[in-house]
Amino acid sequence: MTTSSEATVRRTKIGIVGAGSVGTSLAYAAMIRGTATDIALYDLNTAKVEAEALDLSHGQMFASDTRVEGSDDVAVLRNSDVVLITAGAKQKPGQTRLDLAGANTEILKSLMPQLLEHAPNAIFVLVTNPCDVLTVVAQKITGLPHRQVLSSGTVLDTSRLRWMIANEAQVNTTSVHAYIIGEHGDSEFPVWSSASIGQVPLRDWEIDGRKPFTEQRLAEMTDQVVNAAYKVIEGKGATNYAIGLSGIRIAEAILRDLRSVLPVSSILDDFHGISGLALSVPSIVGRRGVEQPLAIPMGEHEEQQLRDSAQAMRKALTSLGF
Ligand code: 2OP
Repeated sequence: MTTSSEATVRRTKIGIVGAGSVGTSLAYAAMIRGTATDIALYDLNTAKVEAEALDLSHGQMFASDTRVEGSDDVAVLRNSDVVLITAGAKQKPGQTRLDLAGANTEILKSLMPQLLEHAPNAIFVLVTNPCDVLTVVAQKITGLPHRQVLSSGTVLDTSRLRWMIANEAQVNTTSVHAYIIGEHGDSEFPVWSSASIGQVPLRDWEIDGRKPFTEQRLAEMTDQVVNAAYKVIEGKGATNYAIGLSGIRIAEAILRDLRSVLPVSSILDDFHGISGLALSVPSIVGRRGVEQPLAIPMGEHEEQQLRDSAQAMRKALTSLGF
């Protein structure tokens, strides 16, 4: 029998590929935030995926009314609205994200056709690294519209940057307007030229009669953001909680058609002269995926940094035969 609430609640489903630390952090974040009515976890490790789904389900009384399913059968993902992909090799201390390109491309070659079969209308979000390179690989394998295949890109790096700025400026993180764009990796960079707190340009921000955001401080913060994941990986072997929250923020923008501006990565079409490569730029994200990358103003140095990031992506894709 269907209860009256089941009859009226529109069900929304998040599919997650990979029940490792990132996949399960995504599921945990979605459950606590009440992002979807259904979460499906898919992993080849039967015991692990079933145990993770059970563990999450045991907390249902304290979270939202979310159903969690876990299986080693990819059909568990059927009719997902959003599929977050976390499967693949992860960075070991000393490795860059680009070092994972070969191994994770091979995984996508067998995975993407299966995902497409079970969730053809889903928006696919690559969280596996190198996520920008894999976004192009996944789109090429599936032939899906560019808007339907994106990656978490620099949403996490942007959150890292805003957290640092907010601490230093002594304001709430949500009042900081600044983006990291480009590759989610070593060539990423902040768009300092338009960064602000409220509407105050970042470089003009004053606290106790001094301006803390000097050129030297901005360079240090850039370095800290670019190397943030290396530091966490060195200490605990992986990053998982912040990427879990970042990925679910993207899923919410899609499921609720929020049209939020997020620096996700998708294949660009003449963005400051760059086409056919996926890089993160502030983009409107809604029910159809990436609705539109925004033509943001950039300084001369930033334009060059974007070209450098594009060159790094082009090189990686060429070496993979894409
Ligand atoms: C991160 O930035 C490793 O890409 C992962 O946390």
